[in-house]
Amino acid sequence: MNEQAYLAAVGAVAHHFGEFPHAVCILTFGCQQNEADSEKLRGMAHEMGYTDVDDPAEADLILLNTCAIREHAEQKVLSYVGRLKEYREKNPALVVGICGCMTAQPHRVKQIRERYPQVSFTLDPASLDRFPETLAAVLEAGKRTFVTGSEKPEITEGLPTARALRHRAWVSIMYGCNNFCSYCIVPYVRGRERSRASAEILAEVSSLVDAGCRDITLLGQNVNSYRGDCDFATLLDRVASLPGDFLLRFMTSHPKDVPDALIEVMAKHPGRIAPQFHLPLQSGSDRILARMNRKYTRKTYLETVEKLRRAIPDIVLSTDLIIGFPGETDEDFAETMQVVRDVRYDMIYSFLYSPRRGTPAATMPDPVPDAVRKARMAELLETQNAISLSLAEKYVGRTLRVLADAPGREPGMLTGRTPGGRLVHFPGDESLVGQFVRVTIDRAEPFALRGTMTPGAPENS
Ligand code: 5AD
Ligand code: SF4
Repeated sequence: MNEQAYLAAVGAVAHHFGEFPHAVCILTFGCQQNEADSEKLRGMAHEMGYTDVDDPAEADLILLNTCAIREHAEQKVLSYVGRLKEYREKNPALVVGICGCMTAQPHRVKQIRERYPQVSFTLDPASLDRFPETLAAVLEAGKRTFVTGSEKPEITEGLPTARALRHRAWVSIMYGCNNFCSYCIVPYVRGRERSRASAEILAEVSSLVDAGCRDITLLGQNVNSYRGDCDFATLLDRVASLPGDFLLRFMTSHPKDVPDALIEVMAKHPGRIAPQFHLPLQSGSDRILARMNRKYTRKTYLETVEKLRRAIPDIVLSTDLIIGFPGETDEDFAETMQVVRDVRYDMIYSFLYSPRRGTPAATMPDPVPDAVRKARMAELLETQNAISLSLAEKYVGRTLRVLADAPGREPGMLTGRTPGGRLVHFPGDESLVGQFVRVTIDRAEPFALRGTMTPGAPENS
């Protein structure tokens, strides 16, 4: 959309409220990309004069940024929307909007249109810049509006961003996905891959670092498939070479796109590029990987892991696994377990397979019975918890550079992240949030480390 039309719509919404204060409540479901999108929605809402509220009962506008990756995620949103009917009855001026991946599916939009009259608009994730225009149509003409964008949308630069934190930020570098893994809804709801220009990315990171940001994650559905005016390894090298004191991360990577050049760039910038790699395996069985359309084999995947470990010995590895993909046999699952035991991931994120309408896997035969997939999941988690704990124990006695992230749940405690992305709890004053500190690890738990701050300059590992 052109800038003039955007600004006119922002002005129209602000004018609608005039002097009256108006508040927005934004609820975000799903992944980091949605979190990043919500920061843009919030930025636009602020431009239109909205202030933030956490309580939906106090809002003039409730915005749900939704996820469609699994059925459970969608059902959670729909049940929440059901409850909003009451709010709308109490306050007829309330506007409820739904954006995010759910609203890029025609059957969901139809369902919302027909069964949820309390929803005034939907906005698919590739049409974020049309938020002011859509809202203006609702407020001024009382018109319910359902926006579904194109498969190949353009990237809109320059949208305002209201970031949640000063010291940690996401920077989207590419959007969408071309891979069509057979189980996955993402290519249908987020469209084809498109990459931002490297100059835009470098300028955004520079200005974040200048503003005191210490931990920056380059974000993309397949971040390492970035194909702007250079490839991902080159981009990473350029971003990592910017001046300032910050740690650089990236996610999520596709295992098919990890060339040696990328590993070399990571090894070239220790202390700047986090020693961390999230490399979704999904399954350890070549037969299932082929049915998933993952474009790698167990062997090539393991070779990548080996190269990463050789180049960056301290690297923290994590993965995603799908349990109970159609046709997954005991032997297939045993192969997944074998990879889990061989690689020894620091963390895994495991999901029960959830059929997604319109994806090839949804019509594949041989569903795995619920009891079987749940038993497999339990076995996986038991094995992984032991691995996570034994890897965490290796940190005990070490002193690490930790970014103090937030006050902890208990008073006087802080939570932070190690360079590898592990969670650390330690005693410290709230004034340290946003700074790098040195923490000596005293104790390991499967999902977190506990430590004590030690004086001295933070080391770089
Ligand atoms: N069912 C279960 N898990 C899924 N994921 C993606 N699609 C599905 C699905 N249909 C998982 C994959 C992906 C992560 C973000 O979600 O493991 O890496
Ligand atoms: Fe989904 Fe596969 Fe694309 Fe990842 S690479 S978003 S799992 S289709």
